[in-house]
Amino acid sequence: MSQAAKVLTLDGPGGAGKGTISRLVAERLGWHLLDSGALYRLTALAARRHGVALDDEPALERLAATLDVEFLAEADATRILLEGDDVSREIRTEQAGDAASRVASLNGVRQALLQRQRDFRTPPGLVADGRDMGTVVFPDAELKVFLTASAEERARRRYLQLQEAGVDASLSSLLKEIQARDARDMQRSVAPLKPADDAIELDTTSLSIPEVVERLTEWLAQRGLAPET
Ligand code: C5P
Repeated sequence: MSQAAKVLTLDGPGGAGKGTISRLVAERLGWHLLDSGALYRLTALAARRHGVALDDEPALERLAATLDVEFLAEADATRILLEGDDVSREIRTEQAGDAASRVASLNGVRQALLQRQRDFRTPPGLVADGRDMGTVVFPDAELKVFLTASAEERARRRYLQLQEAGVDASLSSLLKEIQARDARDMQRSVAPLKPADDAIELDTTSLSIPEVVERLTEWLAQRGLAPET
C-alpha cells in the first residue's frame, strides 16, 4: 500500500448516493476511484457465468482471487469489463445487487478481494466507495464519511434512476429489496455495514447531490486534503 496516497472513504447503505458522489468528488480532486461494490457484483456475475453456486465458498473465493476485470475511466462513467466483455449495465440490476450481497457475506470472498482493493490506493489520492472502506479496507484513511438516507428516499432515488434508464420498476418492491439488502449487509458476521468509530455521519435524505459534494469538499479542505473552494 502506498502511504503517500490520501484516502477518503465513503461508506453507507445502497442508494445513499455514494456512487455518484464518489465520482464527482474524485473528479473534482483528480483522485482515483474505487467502486468496491462492483467487485462483489462482478464476483457474483462470474459465478453465474461459470456455473458456481452462490454458497460454494471455496469456489467463489477462487473466482474472486482470479477475477479478470478492467475498470476503464471514461468521460462521465466507468466502463467495466469482465473477461473482456462490457458488463457495465449487466452488473447494475437489482438481481446482480442481491447476488453481490450474498457473495459479500462470505469471509473467503472478502479476503480474496482485500489486496485488490488496496492496490487502488495510488497518488495523488483515492475515493473509496463501499460498506467497509473505513472499517476494514482503509482503516487509516484521512477522512471517513458514512452516508445515509431513509430507506424510502433511497428507494425513490433508485426508482427515478431506473425510470431514466427506461427500466420498469415498482417503488414498493424496490423498497422491500433495499430493506432486505440493508438487513443482510448489517447483520452479517464479517465486515458488517456500520460506521467506523472515527467516521463522520451525513444524512443525505434532504440534501441534493451538489450539496453533499460541497459538504465533503469543505471537510477535505479543513483537513488540508483539498484546495479551499
Ligand atoms: O454498492 P453496491 O450496491 O454496488 O454493492 C453491492 C453489494 O456488495 C452490497 O449490497 C454489499 O452486500 C456488497 N458490498 C460489500 N462491501 C463493499 C461494497 C459492497 O459487502 N465494500
